[in-house]
Amino acid sequence: MSNPLAPDWLSVPGDANLLDSRLWPDGVARGNRDELTIHGVPASRLVADYGSPLYVVDLDTVRRRAAWIRDVMTSAFEAPGRRVRVYYATKALLAGDVLHVIRQEGLGADVSSAGEWTAATRAGIDPSDIEYQGNNKSDAELHQAVQAGVGAIVLDSAQEVRRVAAVATAVGVTQPVMIRVNTGVHAGTHDYLATAREDQKFGIARSDIPEVADAIRAESSLTLIGLHSHIGSQIVSPDGFVEATTRVLELYERLSADHPLGVLNIGGGFAIPYTPSDPESNVEVIAGRIAAEVNGFCDRTGIDIPVVACEPGRVIVGPAGITLYSVGTTKSVTVESESGEAERLYVSVDGGMSDNLRPALYGANYTARLANRASSAAPALVRVVGSHCESGDIVVHADYVPGDVAPGDILAVAGTGAYCHSLASNYNGFGRPALVVIEGGEARVGIRAESVDDVLSRDLGLALGVQHSQSGESGQ
Ligand SMILES: Cc1ncc(COP(=O)(O)O)c(C=O)c1O
Repeated sequence: MSNPLAPDWLSVPGDANLLDSRLWPDGVARGNRDELTIHGVPASRLVADYGSPLYVVDLDTVRRRAAWIRDVMTSAFEAPGRRVRVYYATKALLAGDVLHVIRQEGLGADVSSAGEWTAATRAGIDPSDIEYQGNNKSDAELHQAVQAGVGAIVLDSAQEVRRVAAVATAVGVTQPVMIRVNTGVHAGTHDYLATAREDQKFGIARSDIPEVADAIRAESSLTLIGLHSHIGSQIVSPDGFVEATTRVLELYERLSADHPLGVLNIGGGFAIPYTPSDPESNVEVIAGRIAAEVNGFCDRTGIDIPVVACEPGRVIVGPAGITLYSVGTTKSVTVESESGEAERLYVSVDGGMSDNLRPALYGANYTARLANRASSAAPALVRVVGSHCESGDIVVHADYVPGDVAPGDILAVAGTGAYCHSLASNYNGFGRPALVVIEGGEARVGIRAESVDDVLSRDLGLALGVQHSQSGESGQ
């Protein structure tokens, strides 16, 4: 029977052990003794070998999804004389093993910091296949990228025109740049994930674009190659994408009057499902709708768009990752509800907001499954919580798992490939968990876990050999 504390979207599963294939990486199944396995590797073995909590990323799923997005975009936008470029948004998951797959599948990289730049180039992605984003890039970051031959700098403010021009002049190159257009489109997503409303920090207002374009064209060290729009993240409906494209194309036409442009970048933001009741963005439909808009524009105006680009992150790596946690404590709490008293089972695990900030940051929902065994116990409404000193330290807000979940069990949380490791912190002095990759059925460490010594090693006040005087002592 449904628990009155459960949110409306959550129904009681017939079998709380079932794994919805839309949410889990390829190759996740229940193997021997009904344990959750990933390409045959049991969850308990991964935890025994690599520790807990543990991020597990299936590289075969990353590869399949990267190729799928590349092919969907190519077939939607392909036209005589036009190239399609997909830039992986490295902020979603910055890991060398993932970047190698991205490069092998022919994708470029979208970076927005020296760290992301360095990781992408060290993984062998050619600088000319990298786009540099960001609303406040430093001169040092710009210099490093321009000197190496970055494919494009996406300008995010009028002030950046002079800044990038000065760097390009100092380096002695003509730097290709794009303008990030704030289209004013209100895509239906969380406020913190919407990036094209008027009242936020990203992009340049449409009314200011012609002036910024003139300023760029007045700089001999810059060449304006195109326009860019990213309306936000975790967006399901095609409508916002289409509306943003229409608005960018109006500018494209205006700016092409004297000098042709080369690139239209439609950004990223395709939604993935995190729970069985979540809708999934239909990338084929979104790409088809945008392509119809772009092709109609080219036919009507006679203007070419030689390169159509996009920069998805979540849709490539999100469903490729899971997190394994060990259960430490369970606690049943009685809560007053409209239909009387109800019980919620709090399940405390050994990680939390330090390895997945999204529930605290956006109220994001996730799905949890018992991983080390299956159980026929009746499903109980649980809230999976972390070990941190915040009551908002929630891993899974609401789900049904077998009611006999107990200390020592392993829980697997689906869809943690994107924006979990990359948003991780050392809150409460926690070391960030290891990230294990699985490729061809073999597990290996992709990013090692941080030990407490790693975490404290930057604190010079705790360095070995440093003696501190106690308060009140003279220090002599
Ligand atoms: C400019 C830009 N491009 C691309 C992305 C990737 O978005 P997603 O991971 O939702 O595809 C982001 C994410 O915030 C972004 O800010």
